[in-house]
Amino acid sequence: MRKALLIALLLAPSAAIPVVMSLAADVTPTSEMPAAGSVGKTEGLAAWKRVEAVLTHPRCANCHVGPDNIPIWTVAGEKKSRPHGMNIHAGDSRIGAETIACSTCHMTSTAPNKLAHAPPHVGFDWQLAPVDFVWVGKSGVEICTQLKDPKRNGGRDAAGLVEHLRHDAEVNGFIPWAWNPGGGREMPPGTFEDHVKDVAMWGAAGQPCPE
Ligand code: HEC
Ligand code: HEC
Repeated sequence: MRKALLIALLLAPSAAIPVVMSLAADVTPTSEMPAAGSVGKTEGLAAWKRVEAVLTHPRCANCHVGPDNIPIWTVAGEKKSRPHGMNIHAGDSRIGAETIACSTCHMTSTAPNKLAHAPPHVGFDWQLAPVDFVWVGKSGVEICTQLKDPKRNGGRDAAGLVEHLRHDAEVNGFIPWAWNPGGGREMPPGTFEDHVKDVAMWGAAGQPCPE
């Protein structure tokens, strides 16, 4: 009797797994992730290379800076990036609360960014990315490893990263702005939709990183 119960208990969890998995597949109809296993490692790595080219582009990286809390700017028409002019310092708050708030100049607005050299704006308060999400000064492999680590990416799994992109677009955030930056600024390669697709493909391949 006891033996039978023990066997039943041992079997139960493994028996339950296929049920849970098929349920999950049924209840997430809007997921943009290709089915796990449907994208191979080679394809996944190729998708990562395109993702990396976007993340390291100034339109993205200029806010994803390290613990010095100094945003970077790449002025339209200039070749080189440099620390933000006017001694701007975001502080540990990353929004400039300790000195002058970023949104003082980068006023929150969904109006198009048009004027050259005007402070760009989006649908919520302008600010640096959390310091854990630093990309400036990191290699592609380092960025890849950190982006798939939930402890360093805001607790997101592969599908969560895709959702973040969609959510950011809904609130007129920084990510879609990068492909419509105004003021003669250069754009990252591809389109916003290409980027969402690449992040999803990389995720479906198990988030492979170059070696
Ligand atoms: C005194 C006004 C002012 C404040 C305050 C300010 N900025 Fe800016 N910022 C600007 C201007 C003007 C530009 C555009 C420069 C240009 O392109 O010629 C700019 C551009 C930028 C860019 C570059 C965008 C790009 O893609 O090259 C980033 C990043 C940025 N600011 C981050 C911040 C952050 C973060 C804060 C708060 C810590 C902040 N700024 C505070 C005026 C300001
Ligand atoms: C104006 C500053 C700014 C710019 C420009 C910017 N980001 Fe961010 N980014 C942030 C902030 C702030 C967060 C934190 C928001 C959150 O986690 O909800 C963030 C978080 C993220 C995350 C979450 C996970 C992680 O590990 O980083 C991703 C992915 C991301 N950004 C991608 C991009 C991409 C792609 C671009 C360019 C197309 C970009 N960002 C441009 C400020 C910026």
